Amino acid sequence: MAVPVILDCDPGHDDAFNILLAAAHPAIDLLAITTVAGNQTVESTTLNARRVCTVAGIEGVPIAPGRDRPLHGAPLAGENIHGDSGLDGPGFGDDEPRVPRDPRDALTLVRDILRTHPAPVTLVATGPLSNVATLLLAHPELSHRIERIVLMGGSTGRGNTTPAAEFNILCDPEAADIVFSCGRPVTMFGLNATHQVRATPEIVSRIASLGTPLARLCVELLTYFAGTYREVYGFETPPLHDPLTVAHLIDPSLISLVRAPVTVELAGAHTRGATLVDLDGVTGRPANAEVGMEVDVPGFWDLMIEAVRVLGDR
Ligand code: RIB
Ligand code: CA
Repeated sequence: MAVPVILDCDPGHDDAFNILLAAAHPAIDLLAITTVAGNQTVESTTLNARRVCTVAGIEGVPIAPGRDRPLHGAPLAGENIHGDSGLDGPGFGDDEPRVPRDPRDALTLVRDILRTHPAPVTLVATGPLSNVATLLLAHPELSHRIERIVLMGGSTGRGNTTPAAEFNILCDPEAADIVFSCGRPVTMFGLNATHQVRATPEIVSRIASLGTPLARLCVELLTYFAGTYREVYGFETPPLHDPLTVAHLIDPSLISLVRAPVTVELAGAHTRGATLVDLDGVTGRPANAEVGMEVDVPGFWDLMIEAVRVLGDR
């Protein structure tokens, strides 16, 4: 049975690949895409989700915008990595993407799906957790309709936006705290896992050799992403963070997991947004999440590249 999934994202180059993976693989039933402010404004991330679905021929998946800011404070932005559009690199032009946005906002769309879908739904979050937290706060009566929450965010070690905090969590630490405390099963893929999946020149040339317009778009996205990751972080090759979430749902054997207590730092003057993952059980806190650790990197890329092939050949 395909896993019913709602993607909540902030496309974003790596979010875009996660949309492709979710739409292409038969193990996933992509029910909806909701967008959030993160890598760019929610207007831009919504437009980018529509652009990706239009180019990839992903039809009939409702796309709805969510929060334009975190639960508290002002939004951060990721233009240093994803560019002014949030999806710089390819020339999408100024035409309106063919795929429309849904008339509802994200909260209403997800509420309607959770109320009506015949089975509990998996929420996959690859941006700040503002929308997911808002849903949990606004509709506690629907919590049991959430099968689990699989998210890209945090780290068992260093951050990438401050030395302590990863971008998605730092954008909205209060939202992350609500998610990790919500009581539904949470699976976290942090930088310790996502930094293992680098888009190397070999990977890029495997995608290029598919020879389709979608493959060319993916190469343009990865080429831009590699440039900013080299410039900002000095990385030789960029990590494709977000698709670890859907890859895990497709094949749970791809990434090892450990159960551990995860605490989000809210008050630290220098550590706000850190995810403190108690791998050694020294805090005595109960485990509240599964945490991704070791990735089968070739297996991940085989899945990801096959998704680009399948959609590109349609
Ligand atoms: O820190 C990496 C995360 O921040 C990814 O989800 C990327 O898309 C950005 O949102
Ligand atoms: Ca993202």
